[in-house]
Amino acid sequence: MALTANWNFPTAIRFGAGRVSELGDACRAAGITRPLLVTDPGVAPLDITAGALEALAEAGLEAAVFSQVQPNPTAANVEAGLAVLREGGHDGVVAFGGGSALDAGKVIAFMRGQTRPMWDFEDVGDWWTRADPDGIAPVVAVPTTAGTGSEVGRAGVITNVETHTKKVIFHPRMMPPQVILDPELTVGLPPHITAGTGMDALAHCLEAYCSPSYHPMAEGIAVEGIRLVKENLLDAYRDGEDIEARANMLSAAAMGATAFQKGLGAIHALSHPVGAIYNTHHGLTNAVFMPYVMDFNREAVWDKMERLSGWLGIEGGYPGFLDFVLRLRRDLGIPHTIDRIGVDDGRFDEMADMAIVDPTAGGNPRPLKAHDARDLYEAAFEGRVA
Ligand SMILES: NC(=O)c1ccc[n+]([C@@H]2O[C@H](COP(=O)([O-])OP(=O)(O)OC[C@H]3O[C@@H](n4cnc5c(N)ncnc54)[C@H](O)[C@@H]3O)[C@@H](O)[C@H]2O)c1
Ligand SMILES: [Fe+2]
Repeated sequence: MALTANWNFPTAIRFGAGRVSELGDACRAAGITRPLLVTDPGVAPLDITAGALEALAEAGLEAAVFSQVQPNPTAANVEAGLAVLREGGHDGVVAFGGGSALDAGKVIAFMRGQTRPMWDFEDVGDWWTRADPDGIAPVVAVPTTAGTGSEVGRAGVITNVETHTKKVIFHPRMMPPQVILDPELTVGLPPHITAGTGMDALAHCLEAYCSPSYHPMAEGIAVEGIRLVKENLLDAYRDGEDIEARANMLSAAAMGATAFQKGLGAIHALSHPVGAIYNTHHGLTNAVFMPYVMDFNREAVWDKMERLSGWLGIEGGYPGFLDFVLRLRRDLGIPHTIDRIGVDDGRFDEMADMAIVDPTAGGNPRPLKAHDARDLYEAAFEGRVA
């Protein structure tokens, strides 16, 4: 089966190895003639970035680069990029990199013609209607990690360094009109980033699947996303050049983000305060929390996990699935406890208060109270999975 295709759901996606060569065409299709390529300092010097710029030059598009996006991007990163976008007269953004670069690029493009400050567009109620839609510049999104699925999302996650919180900036038109999913761009990912980002894709699919709201379409996508992770993440981790595994992980990542409009849950709610305070990698942090949250949700998801396990050929229902997660984590070299990603036990109360108001907490199948969140931080610190 040829792993190349054009999809129109949830947006226009050019899928296949080598298709970054179509970047110029994708820009034109999005109405961009003077792109600003937004990326991070790790990706900027790589050959894949030179290749993307070459593809733009070949299409006659004069591009500039803004590469000052840090992992867990901040408002200052967005402001700096926005200044370059406006001063350079750019009419759109090529968001190129991992979730950090994609989120920053999307928010920079969104902010181009806005007059209100960025925090006014946090994903709260109908705040997105405050935005001037004509002020939003188009984006071509090109992920170089397979995890966040931000390329098919309508939001960007930006850290507020003053309050140490991760905030979601949302607008329906933040969905990039053109996406290129080229697995060759992910071949050079170091194994530990392959592992962490892949587990983020799994966390998106799993939390979306378990979230109790009614959205059978999203649920179906989540199930297939979980299967793709199950059958490909270890292969991509062990052999980064396995292009089929890389391709399937890129699909799984995009599917996770497509599915999670149904809801996320306590994995993300516990993870966001940790990422904001300790600047840990998002996917890795989710991976550490996953079995503890499954444990907490055990009764609420028992029947659903039975069904999921049956579909995936995992024996034993919920316990079988938990066992699969624990083994996958171990095989990917992911630590079992949060102290091993740099989290101490001094701020659990504060983090628990942040977790329960995180927008993702509401999607958890079992209500998450402050004392539950505190218990979960303790369990994840001590390594207690029932
Ligand atoms: N918008 C969303 O829906 C959404 C969903 C989940 C997570 N996020 C956000 O995404 C961010 C995490 O994104 P991420 O997990 O992709 O990590 P990342 O973007 O922070 O990148 C991690 C590291 O990988 C490097 N890297 C990226 N591509 C590479 C490549 N091809 N080869 C070698 N190195 C490469 C980067 O330079 C960086 O050092 C977090 O800020 C998180 O909150 C957003
Ligand atoms: Fe995530």
